[in-house]
Amino acid sequence: MKKHLLRIADLTKDEILAILDRAEELRQGSKPRRFPGTILGLLFFQASTRTRIGFHSAIARLGGTGITIEKTKYQPGMTHPESLEDTLRSIVHYCDAFVLRHPENDSIDRAARVLTGVPLLNAGNGLDEHPTQALIDLFAIRSWHHRLEGLRIGFVGDLARSRSTHSLLQALHYFPPAELRLMHPASAAAPPNILSSQLTDTLRTESDLRVQHLDVLYVAGFSQGDEAPHYDTAARQRFRLTTQVLPRLSGRCLILDPLPRIDEIDPLVDRSPNAYYFLQSTAGRFVRSAILELQLGMPSQTISCSS
Ligand code: CP
Repeated sequence: MKKHLLRIADLTKDEILAILDRAEELRQGSKPRRFPGTILGLLFFQASTRTRIGFHSAIARLGGTGITIEKTKYQPGMTHPESLEDTLRSIVHYCDAFVLRHPENDSIDRAARVLTGVPLLNAGNGLDEHPTQALIDLFAIRSWHHRLEGLRIGFVGDLARSRSTHSLLQALHYFPPAELRLMHPASAAAPPNILSSQLTDTLRTESDLRVQHLDVLYVAGFSQGDEAPHYDTAARQRFRLTTQVLPRLSGRCLILDPLPRIDEIDPLVDRSPNAYYFLQSTAGRFVRSAILELQLGMPSQTISCSS
């Protein structure tokens, strides 16, 4: 395993399976490895609930401590806040590993260039990737279906701007689906370069919500805010999962959503036995502990840098 986890492609298939297997052991009551005195730097320059609390909780369960930073330093007289690089150069030796979330796509590679001696985990870089979320998603899929390959998997929403979708689609390169169904407005397609030939061979695109025969429905939703493209109510409704859609869903279909929910799933759907998104989120604690165990447990002489 590489020192940094910057993108899902940093992991081999065997490494992904090792993380999922260890997470399953932890879920079944195995005692976490102990890393007493270990300090994890939680660098969250963009809002987070699940990922931030998840890693903070995970390091505490492993006997370590988390330190959170949300802003780089700014004071009167500075034209800009302190740069990410200067901030990291200053604190690199205060922590044994770092987790970074940042609104800019290039932030994770910039951080990796500075943090050469310390493991770095990507917790979401702009619109690019969210690899630890993809591991949580794979864990949820395997928990429900007891396999990862040969499933009919649908993604719905703004797939151009969903970093969780980007990482999961790339992870599926290792676990080719029987069908990959991408449902989105014309302007919200996933970047074509992240779809490997294993995926394009089974790809079907839809301009509305077609959920029949799916084994997994991944509801990516539509971002809101000044920088997100505006999708009017009619467009959002066209891709919204409501109780009216549920009868068209297979009884075996797992409904996932990386959360937070905006309006992509009607809260009434939460009562469906197929609605797994809150279990997906809570089971993330085992996956995050497994990731930290592996990253922190590597002997320093065997780790290689991915950047
Ligand atoms: N799924 C996810 O990344 O949630 P947060 O933004 O709350 O971390």
